[in-house]
Amino acid sequence: MHVERARELGLCFGVRRAVNMLRDSARTYGSLQTLGPLAHNHVLLQELEALGVTTANSPSELTGPAVVVSAHGVGPDTMSLLTERGFTIVDTTCPNVGRAQHIAAEMARDGFTIVIFGDSAHTEVRGLLGWAGDRGIATLDASALESSRTPPVPAGVGIISQTTQRVEEFTAFAQRVCATVLAVSQEVRIVNTLCDATLRRQSAAADLARTVDAMVVIGGHASANTQRLAETCATIVETYLVETADEIEEALLRGKKRIGLTAGASTPDSSIREVESRLRAL
Ligand code: F3S
Repeated sequence: MHVERARELGLCFGVRRAVNMLRDSARTYGSLQTLGPLAHNHVLLQELEALGVTTANSPSELTGPAVVVSAHGVGPDTMSLLTERGFTIVDTTCPNVGRAQHIAAEMARDGFTIVIFGDSAHTEVRGLLGWAGDRGIATLDASALESSRTPPVPAGVGIISQTTQRVEEFTAFAQRVCATVLAVSQEVRIVNTLCDATLRRQSAAADLARTVDAMVVIGGHASANTQRLAETCATIVETYLVETADEIEEALLRGKKRIGLTAGASTPDSSIREVESRLRAL
């Protein structure tokens, strides 16, 4: 079986940066707690645990003295809460997420309704909603705007995206929102807040998917960017999402000569190596 890696895959600069910050801080403080998982990948979380980094699922579980804000970021209320409780904050918010937060806050200051293309339950989107104040709406379905309790306002509507969504879907969403709100609002501001690392991984995966018999996408099942990678590949070729080498089902790949490999932005190098060597051994 021939196995080929996508030209760009695995840990993005935002997660690498966060992991490096945690390594340094763990040396300084001995142990650290992250507020929510640093990233949605169990293998990565286990590697961090070995460094003394554990996950608190809510602010009430935090004991300090040092607390980590994950690469997904948090809203201003959570930041204030952590400061009030006297924690030393290790802020690993990815600069791409930080830019989206800044844009949401700026639009809120300008009195805009802010429509976020994203999963409202995802940590990053919850943080963005916090920066949008009481004028934010997060949805993956543009028609939800029509029935929303936060309708578009005459001052204007801003449209941004969760960083890890797919560009084709954000484009279609923005077009649909424009069609709905232009009758009401004087200004519509669309800002592309998609992450370039995610876009490059999606494009590299799609190029590879066109040349192979099946794609294997490595990453956490709850990882948004990994799911989008799998969706991108699945529109082209048979695709399997696995988090570890143990999840590879040999029967599904039987008869396939060329397998393409890609990995989500929070997938550690060790997982990629393991899956790759398991596939080569088939
Ligand atoms: Fe940042 Fe993009 Fe990675 S938003 S954490 S560089 S997937």
